[in-house]
Amino acid sequence: MLNEKVAELLNTQVNKEFYSAYLYLAFSNYFSEEGLNGFSNWYLIQAQEERDHAMLFVQYMQNNDAKITFEAIGKPEFSAEKHIDVLNAGLKHERYVTGLINNIYGTAYEVKDFRTMQFLDWFVKEQGEEETNANDLIKKMELFGSDPKSLYLLDQEMAARTYAAPSLVL
Ligand SMILES: [Fe+2]
Repeated sequence: MLNEKVAELLNTQVNKEFYSAYLYLAFSNYFSEEGLNGFSNWYLIQAQEERDHAMLFVQYMQNNDAKITFEAIGKPEFSAEKHIDVLNAGLKHERYVTGLINNIYGTAYEVKDFRTMQFLDWFVKEQGEEETNANDLIKKMELFGSDPKSLYLLDQEMAARTYAAPSLVL
């Protein structure tokens, strides 16, 4: 049996990961409307990854006989006057998610739930990568976003991203 508090936080995280997928799909829509199909593709794949994260939390809870309760997924909210506003919103969101993962980890640590800590190790590493990716994107957009030709090439780079299933297998 999972600790009650740990189980509650894991349950909440399922919703947070699905919200992340929803948020990134909204980003994908925004860039599609802007005619930047490469960026739209990049965030579409990002959304798929977030859905995978949610599924991993569900699977982990099922494997440990924890009761799962689904709540409504919030409406994705972000304001974008410029392209870079979306990228900044992405980084802010990833930092928020890192805090959530760390909080679950800290709770698991307190109750000596080593199994959940090991499960979360993958997410700790993943969050590091997510923040790095979001940061790199912002830097690229700052450098090249104001020049149409460079933005076109950057969009092509973003179009090259392909989906890969998560490396974590439960
Ligand atoms: Fe995630």
